[in-house]
Amino acid sequence: MKLFDVYPLIDVTPAKAEGSYFWDENGTEYLDLYGGHAVISIGHSHPTYVKYITEQLNNIGFYSNYVKIPIQNQVAEQLTKLSGYDDYTLFLCNSGAEANENAIKLASFHTGKKKIIYFSGAFHGRTAAAVACTDNPKIVAPVNQSENFVKLPFNDLEALENEFKTNPDIAGVIVEGIQGVGGVQIPTTAFLQKIQELCNENNAVFIADEIQSGFGRSGKFFAHQHAGVTPDIISMAKGMGNGFPVAGILISPKFKASYGLLGTTFGGNFLACAATKAVLDVIEKENLLQNAQEVGDYLVSLLQNQKNIKEIRYQGLMIGIDLAFPCNEVRTRLVKEYKMLTGNASTPNTLRVLPALNVKKEDVKKFADALIQILNEY
Ligand SMILES: Cc1ncc(COP(=O)(O)O)c(C=O)c1O
Repeated sequence: MKLFDVYPLIDVTPAKAEGSYFWDENGTEYLDLYGGHAVISIGHSHPTYVKYITEQLNNIGFYSNYVKIPIQNQVAEQLTKLSGYDDYTLFLCNSGAEANENAIKLASFHTGKKKIIYFSGAFHGRTAAAVACTDNPKIVAPVNQSENFVKLPFNDLEALENEFKTNPDIAGVIVEGIQGVGGVQIPTTAFLQKIQELCNENNAVFIADEIQSGFGRSGKFFAHQHAGVTPDIISMAKGMGNGFPVAGILISPKFKASYGLLGTTFGGNFLACAATKAVLDVIEKENLLQNAQEVGDYLVSLLQNQKNIKEIRYQGLMIGIDLAFPCNEVRTRLVKEYKMLTGNASTPNTLRVLPALNVKKEDVKKFADALIQILNEY
């Protein structure tokens, strides 16, 4: 049987990995500055990660939310400690799209309203509601098209105010902590504050999608914490499991839970929680928020004023480098000639760099040297 051919793959086959490196089936070494779409947070095959998952698997791997799973509470406690959201509750699920799906549902259940505001450049996932508030018509099937989702320009305070003035049916506003697929676009502090203010005034729910920007990537636990705002619901995935499929939402105390309101078969299973607990323990023990900030600043300092770099947008280790031309050829050359993986974005000139949070300065220096060398040839 062939695979349904939806992914334009690069010609690399990782066979073994450690930290920020992996090796292909021939033993060729690659420097991973992409982490499989921002998923690898504490480095490939971190010993704590391997230990927690292995130990858990040797005891029990799975049961559904039909029995007590105390490791879910341990994850919630660690999340409280690292994020500071001590009066929020946690709902666990399996993927980023599913987290947003639940966030949007909850906003609508809670307010009794229907409309969700999202922004130009947004990516919130591929399931029904998540894709309906994703700014990419190519991935929105006719069945997902809905008048319940209102697109507004990103970082435009006036457009947001006008929409709230004229639309009484707004259940919530969803915004990425930092837009990832949209090209590492950072919401202004004033914009996030305005979302919070308007949501509070109009009985609407402020949803921060921290699926890519959360779990320490920005140098704070959540990217919106740089702006000092407190969303009502925060969605998480990607770095949360360092590769194990796990996701969740943090829910403000204003939401009331009731049996059956949300649910999932796999969400919060023992193994997913062991993976998440390993990520949280390593982030804390190895001070990875600080490392993300320091190494991000260092990499960006190396790339300042270099030929063919037009702009760099970043917070911590979520970095978008705008070249003077489309970046695809440069990415391919980085893979083929220098054995380094980077990402792209919907803005064709943007090279997206999303290394593990414990990447070393010497590794990002290697990358900066390679990139500068390539860019000097154009
Ligand atoms: C900001 C954001 N939200 C949601 C998603 C969807 O996550 P998943 O692919 O786990 O469904 C992504 C994935 O790229 C994302 O970057």
